[in-house]
Amino acid sequence: MTAIPGYTMGQSSVPKAPISWVEFEELKKSVLLGEEDLSYLRMAGDVLVPRVEELLDVWYGFVGSNPHLVKSFARKSDGKPDEEYLGAVRKRFGQWVKDTCAANYDQKWLDYHFEVGRRHHRSGKNRADNVNAEENVPLRHLVALIAPITLTVKPFLEKSGKSAEDVEKMHAAWLKAVTLQVAIWVWPYTREEDY
Ligand code: HEM
Repeated sequence: MTAIPGYTMGQSSVPKAPISWVEFEELKKSVLLGEEDLSYLRMAGDVLVPRVEELLDVWYGFVGSNPHLVKSFARKSDGKPDEEYLGAVRKRFGQWVKDTCAANYDQKWLDYHFEVGRRHHRSGKNRADNVNAEENVPLRHLVALIAPITLTVKPFLEKSGKSAEDVEKMHAAWLKAVTLQVAIWVWPYTREEDY
């Protein structure tokens, strides 16, 4: 497998997650993510991973057509989207689809997802790609994007040839898995005692 620049899951540079496994299990309960969902996420992976570039085209099309979103990829020097930055993040985004469907929730995974949170926040944004771009992804949009990131996978799942019940269950499992991650990613935006 070719290494993806900036994808540092499992590397010693990634700090340990600030929550315990007990707290992580509670979060899984809050999003209603159970054993059955893990099977449906893997089924979703069989559908989505082979078509990941098409899916990324949809998401990048959405971000690109919304100036308030693409702004997060803008260079500070001229305010224009940094295509190299967008391209580098796209590779990690593709890996994220695989990781989300694989749902291997181990310590490396948990640590890395706090890192992904930092990468959206001013405390860690731009570092992985060494760019001089917009400093922070607004928290409100980080949360809001759960909707498009979830709704846009449905047509891909529907075209899989799986039963309507399987499609619904894959879609629900995807929503839970994305919400779980965003609940982790908001960490650097909050005060510890409020998290
Ligand atoms: C549910 C919402 C979102 C999901 C699932 C998501 C997913 C991702 C993923 C998987 C990465 C790469 C992580 C890595 O480095 O391995 C990433 C990075 C990034 N995302 Fe998001 N994202 C979301 C919301 C947003 C929003 C709302 C914006 C901007 C308006 C945004 C802008 C960015 C930027 C600029 C990066 C690169 C950060 C860096 O400098 O490392 N994301 N996102």
